[in-house]
Amino acid sequence: MKGKKQYARQLLGVCTLALLCGAVPAHGQSQDARAKRAATAQKSDPAPTGQNWNDPAEMHRFIDALMAKMTVKEKIGQLTQLTSSWESTGPTMRDSYKQDIAAGNVGSIFNAFTAKYTRELQKVAVEQTRLRIPLLFGYDVIHGHRTIFPISLGEAATWDMAAVEKGARISAVEAAAEGIHWTFSPMVDIARDPRWGRISEGSGEDVYLGSQIAAARVHGYQGKKIGDLDSVLATAKHFAAYGAAQAGRDYHTTDMSERELRDTYLPPFKAALDAGAATFMTSFNELNGVPATGSKFLLTDILRGEWGFKGFVVTDYTAINEMVPHGYARDEAQAGEQAMNAGVDMDMQGAVFMTHLEKSIAEGRVSQERVDQAVRSILEMKYRLGLFQDPYRYSDEAREKATIYKPEHLEAARDVARKSMVLLKNQGDVLPLAASAKSIAVIGPLGDSKEDMIGSWAAAGDRKTRPVTLLEGLRARAGKGVNVGYARGAGYRFDEAGKTDGFAEALALAQKSDVIIAAMGERWDMTGEAASRTDLDMPGAQQALLEELKKLGKPVVLVLMNGRPLTIDWAAENVDAILEAWYPGTMGGHAIADILFGDYNPSGKLPVTFPRTVGQVPIFYNMKNTGRPYTADKQGQKYLSRYLNTPNSPLYPFGYGLSYTSFGYSPVTIDKKTIRPGEALTASVTVTNTGKRDGEEVVQLYVRDLVGSVTRPVRELKGFLKVKLKRGESRKISFTLSDKDLAFHRADMSYGAEPGDFSLFVGGSSDATAQADFTLTK
Ligand code: BGC
Repeated sequence: MKGKKQYARQLLGVCTLALLCGAVPAHGQSQDARAKRAATAQKSDPAPTGQNWNDPAEMHRFIDALMAKMTVKEKIGQLTQLTSSWESTGPTMRDSYKQDIAAGNVGSIFNAFTAKYTRELQKVAVEQTRLRIPLLFGYDVIHGHRTIFPISLGEAATWDMAAVEKGARISAVEAAAEGIHWTFSPMVDIARDPRWGRISEGSGEDVYLGSQIAAARVHGYQGKKIGDLDSVLATAKHFAAYGAAQAGRDYHTTDMSERELRDTYLPPFKAALDAGAATFMTSFNELNGVPATGSKFLLTDILRGEWGFKGFVVTDYTAINEMVPHGYARDEAQAGEQAMNAGVDMDMQGAVFMTHLEKSIAEGRVSQERVDQAVRSILEMKYRLGLFQDPYRYSDEAREKATIYKPEHLEAARDVARKSMVLLKNQGDVLPLAASAKSIAVIGPLGDSKEDMIGSWAAAGDRKTRPVTLLEGLRARAGKGVNVGYARGAGYRFDEAGKTDGFAEALALAQKSDVIIAAMGERWDMTGEAASRTDLDMPGAQQALLEELKKLGKPVVLVLMNGRPLTIDWAAENVDAILEAWYPGTMGGHAIADILFGDYNPSGKLPVTFPRTVGQVPIFYNMKNTGRPYTADKQGQKYLSRYLNTPNSPLYPFGYGLSYTSFGYSPVTIDKKTIRPGEALTASVTVTNTGKRDGEEVVQLYVRDLVGSVTRPVRELKGFLKVKLKRGESRKISFTLSDKDLAFHRADMSYGAEPGDFSLFVGGSSDATAQADFTLTK
């Protein structure tokens, strides 16, 4: 308490002094107006102290007064973010970051956490710089902070927005207790190319699902309000179109029509903004010839102009510097000018603003007004977080201790994990495991690997001791008298493809067991950033081992852990059951056991299409039809849009996932065959649990616009509902649909629906067959 008061008094001293001693001259009209406002306010009102941080009027007065005192160099400091040496999430490191803080050259630090360390760094900023402006601490809290939830793609497979929000909420609670103010999440990039390793970090291929999840995550992170001690600022990233990297190679070029950008790639960002996302991060890629970090079109015209964004924009890691190799800037100084003029506010790790911006301002290539706007947007966020009241308020060791790895956090992580898993195959109801299975062989490199369980971008999650492996989970659950053995059998590194020396031990164990659980997939660091692949097979010797296991004639259950769709056509054909477990997080092993033993009935659905072969990529459900569609009645004909050697259809479609029970759908009924703009129709189906267990189904609504001024996709998701149905239970599910749901960017780029005929489909995947047709009139 004493510390807080003292800090506020000192700040007050600085600000009062600023006004008495004469402020640094502000440039531009609005600056002058602000300076006047500050001076008048100071005369009539008590000096702003930063104490009353929930009052916007006081915030403006406070920031006006503070900015009036700041030198250009101090302002640029606020626009600079550096990584601490604790962790590296990019190619460069600046060892001098502590000196940079002390010199007032840094406004934000990332990759620093724990109450103790953030406090230590904050102390440098607050006690050693002239203006005592607190630091903002950012970190990639993507799918958990200490308690790790399933990777984001896995969370998307829950199709359960409450679960997704809960994951984000708990991540925020733990991160905020460790001194973090700001997470670089949600990653809302639509991704339709599984070669791209970062597909694991997003919500998959679909605009509608992706937008719902973007909003749920922002709500989860930011909680009730910015400044609450259990919330962190969210970042919508990577703005924009990063997921469309050519050939699935990370950081690669994106080139697309403005319609595709606006209809497919931007909506999840807009949804994040509408949910209140405080910040945006630029992307590494160029978009139609302009690096996103230098794109005025994206950062100013769309984000601030059309959408009215009021927060601040941070670049991705050294993304300004990268405009030079992109071939867009001749040197870093020019890149800094392009970024600032395009609408970037904070330079992550590039030190470009720090090094060059002062000169660019002095020589008139960047206006003081633009810089002031950027500074103000960052200071406002610090203010709203209450950092001017108490810069240490998030760095509380007692709270940290009481918060991280709380039992209820771990329990929630287990719950979200089991909800995220997708049952892809279950021939002969081999799952759940029969009580008669007295010996279980767990085989494969992912069967007992702690480090893999939590996947990539696992923040401060412990990779060594905390994660519960599949083997541990099964052993904990299996009753007395059930023997669970383990053999690694095969490696999963690319260079282990021909290594079969572990096979004999694995096969011997499998031979004497009743059932084989093959735990296979990818090593955790084969997904995420800079982890693109040219094939999607299970790497190393896993496939060869799986084929040997199959020869034993025992039931084989494949449990996959991976961060992208894999090409598992052989397994789909040959093993008895397949469970997609993604990287399930700290409690993953227990969650898998919950499913394998039938304590939880799987309910996940794929948020992304699984191809049969990498040659089909990009493959996603809402494609266009072409002029020569290859339909069932034209089998074998030439001159149609198809492959000679592989069907067009995927191995598993978007929205697909099985349950231990089964669901029946009635025909769809609609209450109106025709709607006018402004009207809505209701489409209803009765869903029945036709199997022997209680279960959950994700009922999905798709629409097809038959004719448009530009061609329309064959299907688009427009609604979904996850419902619990007891065995034998039926329930009527209704969706409403209006012309708003049918809107797109028309031939003239205006946004809205077009009158005409539509079909809608309701079912348990994007292959839904229950259909009804309707018309939208003028
Ligand atoms: C990634 C971002 C991340 C940043 C900070 C970059 O390499 O692209 O997603 O937030 O590093 O760690």
